[in-house]
Amino acid sequence: MKRQFAIAAFEAADLLEGRVEPRYAKVLTRLLAAHAIAEKLTAEGYARALESIGDAALRPTITRNLAEERKHARLVYQILDQLGINEAHADRSMITALKSASFAAPRRFAEHPVGPLELLMASLSLDMTGLLMVGVNYRDSSYAPHARAAEIILAEEEDHELFAATELHDAAARFGAASVNAALRDWLPCAVNFFGPPGSGFTFDCLRYGLKARDNAELAELYLTMLERRVLQAGLAMPRLTPDYPHAIA
Ligand SMILES: [Fe+2]
Ligand SMILES: [Fe+2]
Repeated sequence: MKRQFAIAAFEAADLLEGRVEPRYAKVLTRLLAAHAIAEKLTAEGYARALESIGDAALRPTITRNLAEERKHARLVYQILDQLGINEAHADRSMITALKSASFAAPRRFAEHPVGPLELLMASLSLDMTGLLMVGVNYRDSSYAPHARAAEIILAEEEDHELFAATELHDAAARFGAASVNAALRDWLPCAVNFFGPPGSGFTFDCLRYGLKARDNAELAELYLTMLERRVLQAGLAMPRLTPDYPHAIA
């Protein structure tokens, strides 16, 4: 799929002054609203973790990640705001999407109790996936404000992802391999579904407009390959998934 617009081709003024086809703004705002609420739900999960996890070794990282996820959400809502869409409006546009399998992972983190093992699973399911979405897709966005925000978010997500990788490495010793394997089976389907359905019309538009660089299925594949290597290195079992979206345990 050849992209129609180059990286960072447009600023807010280009859209507001009608220099870009109206459909571009429609697709862009839907993508930004999804990105913003994913960051916000991740922040809510970290806030929950900070309330419930007493472990002094984890709290500094949780505190920092919480502040950074709040900042990521703010950055993306600001971009929407420049286009005349406030946070409440953006969130309202996501009501149906939030109920889909794509949002099961961030909702789970935001809405359920978080212990140290859930924190690790959430980080593998949200930070590691987020790093791919932001680093592969949004960094090369044709919408310059989103590309710039992605650079800032990416630098911080690299640390979040490193935290998840380190924690996973030690997880079998800390929680017992059986518990971690069970948690992986429990979380992996929703983590992979977070990338969204393959080959959707919406993603087709995103690719065509240069708002995404890769299809959801390609990112999901990349994620599974990276995660499998780490899971096996940590002496754990990589769960098998059904081939079609929404994925479940095979
Ligand atoms: Fe983030
Ligand atoms: Fe993160």
